[in-house]
Amino acid sequence: VPLQSYNTFGIVARAHRLVRIASEADVHAVLADAELGGEARFVLGGGSNIVLTGDVRPLVLKVEVRGIRLAEETERCWVVEAGAGENWHETVAWTIAHGYPGLENLALIPGTVGASPVQNIGAYGVELQDRFHSLDAIDLQTGQPFTLYAAQCAFGYRDSVFKHAAAPGGFGLANRALILRVRFLLPKPWKPELGYLDLARRQAEEGGAQPTPQQVFDWVCEIRRAKLPDWRVVGNAGSFFKNPTVSPEQCADIIAREPRIVHYPMADGSIKLAAGWLIDACGWKGKSVGNAGVYEKQALVLVNRGGSDPAHAVTGGEVMTLAKAIQTSVYERFGIRLEPEPVVV
Ligand code: EPU
Repeated sequence: VPLQSYNTFGIVARAHRLVRIASEADVHAVLADAELGGEARFVLGGGSNIVLTGDVRPLVLKVEVRGIRLAEETERCWVVEAGAGENWHETVAWTIAHGYPGLENLALIPGTVGASPVQNIGAYGVELQDRFHSLDAIDLQTGQPFTLYAAQCAFGYRDSVFKHAAAPGGFGLANRALILRVRFLLPKPWKPELGYLDLARRQAEEGGAQPTPQQVFDWVCEIRRAKLPDWRVVGNAGSFFKNPTVSPEQCADIIAREPRIVHYPMADGSIKLAAGWLIDACGWKGKSVGNAGVYEKQALVLVNRGGSDPAHAVTGGEVMTLAKAIQTSVYERFGIRLEPEPVVV
């Protein structure tokens, strides 16, 4: 099965076998199947956070569980439940249109609902963990369904229990838990989250009044469209590296050498550095290695410059070669190791 249209980079790769999962019953059918039941598995959502470096040998389970509904409403919150296969942005749009605001800062993030807790998606001052209620999943080893609440998901910056390998005795659930449904906790009364500079600036331009959820949604879409490539036009997997954190001492050291470095203090006392700035400062913006390129308007995003023609599309190898070259130059200049953000398959 060709996977090129199932990953937003547009990398050409094949799955040896692929099964579509639209319900819990579909998972049980796979597990009970004499031929498929014992195979290694790879869970695929929207393919917006992966780099395929070759054909995928494990059985690919493509999650297509649908449905969005208001699951619960109290005086203090709305709880919205969505199937893991729902498109993330359309789900956010649905919540705004139905009067359940709270996800608007996360508008236009590519991918599916089921992938949102895996990397704890975040943008413009809000992370998924700030709006997460719980999720339903199935253990692919035992076939047991289970529910996880926020504390059990080990959410971190672009990280969760679902990103870690299921080592014996370890806690990871990567490719072991298949997420079926996610519930979002949207607090009442709604308050806009406008702490991020780009949004504060947008609010000031509009006269400074408190915006509606729809306005914040529209602003986030505008800001993203202005600096992030649309994967339907130029393949990419969003930010390719995590923003690194350093100690205040390390940061003071770097500032002494690089006064213009973009940095933000974190609640825990550490300092977050803008990886996009570091890469930009090393001169990478707009550069290419083979068909892998560094996006012109945001150096943190690596893009497919070969287009969708399979003969020219970027390969996972080219993406990783470019990523390694960037890591080396950032390390040589700043002494900082950048960590890739997408899952390398
Ligand atoms: N910058 C540069 N040059 C660049 C890119 C950025 O100097 O080429 C500077 C900018 O001027 C800005 C700072 O770096 O001062 C931060 O840039 P930006 O606001 O674009 O955000 P980011 O830190 O690069 C993060 C997330 C994005 C998210 C935005 C907005 C990560 C890895 N990335 O990017 O998430 O949309 O903030 O909240 O945390 C993703 O994870 O895939 C993603 C797109």
